[in-house]
This record gives sequence, structure tokens and C-alpha cells, in this order.
Amino acid sequence: MEGSGIGREENGMNDIWSKRVQGTKTLYYSRKLRFNDMFAERYKALFDVNEDRSLRILEIGCGPGALAGALHRWYPKAEVTGVDRDSAFISFARKHENGITFVEGDITALPFADNSFDVVISHTVSEHIEPSIFYGVQMRLLKENGSCLVLSSRRGIHIAPDCLSSSDVEKRFWEKAKRYDDTLNQYSICRYPMNEAQLPASMESYGFRNTSTGFVTVDLTPDHPKYSNTIAHEMIDADRYADIDAIDSVFYKMPEYFTVKEIEEMKRMTHAKYDIRIAQYDRGERQWDTNVVIIMVIRGVKFDV
Ligand SMILES: C[S@@+](CC[C@H](N)C(=O)[O-])C[C@H]1O[C@@H](n2cnc3c(N)ncnc32)[C@H](O)[C@@H]1O
Repeated sequence: MEGSGIGREENGMNDIWSKRVQGTKTLYYSRKLRFNDMFAERYKALFDVNEDRSLRILEIGCGPGALAGALHRWYPKAEVTGVDRDSAFISFARKHENGITFVEGDITALPFADNSFDVVISHTVSEHIEPSIFYGVQMRLLKENGSCLVLSSRRGIHIAPDCLSSSDVEKRFWEKAKRYDDTLNQYSICRYPMNEAQLPASMESYGFRNTSTGFVTVDLTPDHPKYSNTIAHEMIDADRYADIDAIDSVFYKMPEYFTVKEIEEMKRMTHAKYDIRIAQYDRGERQWDTNVVIIMVIRGVKFDV
């Protein structure tokens, strides 16, 4: 498939991304925080969408559906559709986010009419799809005056707490996994990266006008007193899910190099470390570990010439 690099498995499922690149829980729980309602006004100011009208919004590459869920809450009059080619993401999204139509499909062959959406949005997708395909599809699907919103995660700050440091056993496991892992090359992951100047320039070069940019900074610091216990636990557990998914994906990708026992032991050690972090939090022993995520929003408008 041109511009996409991932085909179907023999069983008809396409779950290569969720099994080999980023797990379902990794994406869902990190994005539930990134698109938490407490940040809604910041995103909405940059999206600059007229929410008084009943809008048709399409999210392309929606993964397990957390952003689509946020859009449904933030624009209650809108009809939100999410599309992704990964079968596991779409079935998870259908179970966890209500009021949204989730469609399994490839961006290069979407079953939607030309000029049929007011907004097309994506988050951390542009770097994986050849730009003329990525923007061409959105130009086709948008109505005149419709908005193209590209969200791109930029380099932030990630300081882990001491209790999550890797043991020698864990370091050896990851060194070995790295040695045999060819996933990024094999599936064209991140083949089209762009910096903060190239992103809007690229959008303009494919015909979008009135282009603007902005940044939302999401500060995920569990010990900050402004966050509730629930959110702080969610922050710690989002990282736990990502680490556990990463261990599972090693087994999916290269079962010939790892035993079930090794994988289970890695997962046990990982859970034990995160349990320590949760206990520290609950006892009020501040670690000030932090994850600051910077999301760039690039907005352009389709004008018929
Ligand atoms: C980095 S993930 C981001 C997922 C989601 N937007 C999020 O932030 O959680 C990239 C997503 O793009 C999807 N994707 C990549 N190429 C695609 C294509 N050609 N058609 C449909 N989905 C695609 C992948 O399946 C994956 O879910």
C-alpha cells in the first residue's frame, strides 16, 4: 500500500501497529491525559472552529479513540467520525468511547464523499504518511472553508523517578531487543518527520490557506498539588501501561529470541517498580518526576480556487 507500509495479517486483521509499534493502552491512556478536559479551552482556542454550527468532524489515524472522545465532549453539536486501519484500535475505541462512529480503513481508500467534512483532524499521524497523500486526502474530504488541523507532538521534558531506574537484567533485555528489532524500518514508521517550520510550510504547499500555528503545553507532574489523587494515579499508570505494552510487543515482534518466562519476569519487575511509585505518592513522598508534552497545532483552511 503506497504511503502506508503496513498490510493485513493472514487472519484478515490489521493489528500490526497495536502489537508492534505502540500498544492500545499506551496510546489510549497517554491521550486521555493529553486531551483531558482541563486542557480543552487551550486546544479549542487554536482549533478556532465555529462550534455553534452542527459540524462534521473526521479524525484520521484516530488510534484507540481518546482524541475523538474529547472532540465529542468539546463540540457536543458535532458529528464525530474516527478512522484508523488498525483493527484492535477500532474495536477498543468502539467499546470505550460513546457517541462516535469509528471506521476501520486506510487513509488511502476512505469510503467518504468528496467535500463532506467541516473539520479533518489528526494527532501524531502526519510523520507516518507521505505528505502528498496525507494532505491530498484531507483536501478531497473537506468542504470549502473547512479546517485541516494537524497536531504534532514535539520534544518535551521527561524525567522519571529514581524508583523506575532499570536494573542490569532490564538493561540487558532492552539491549537484546534493540539488536533484533527492525520494526521502524520494516513498516515505514516516522518516515516523514518535519520540524516546526516545515510542518506549516508543507500544509501550505499542498494548497491550504490562512495557515496558523500554536502550541499547547501539557504538564503531567503527579506531585503537583493542583492535580487530584485520581489524575496523579492516572499519570503514573499511563507510564506503567506504556512500559508493559513495550515488553509485550517485544514478544510479538521476536518470539524466537525471548522466552515467556523472561517476558513475565520483566512485567513482574515493571509492575513492582510502579507499585513503589504509587505507594510513594500515596504516602506524600514527593519525587517531582515530570512529563511535559508539547503539542503543536497547525491549522489551514481549504479554499476553492
Ligand atoms: C502514532 S499513532 C497515533 C494514534 C492516535 N492519533 C493517537 O494519538 O493516539 C499513528 C496512527 O496512525 C494510524 N495510521 C498510520 N497510517 C495509516 C493509514 N495509512 N491509514 C489509516 N491509519 C493509519 C496507525 O494505525 C496509528 O493508529
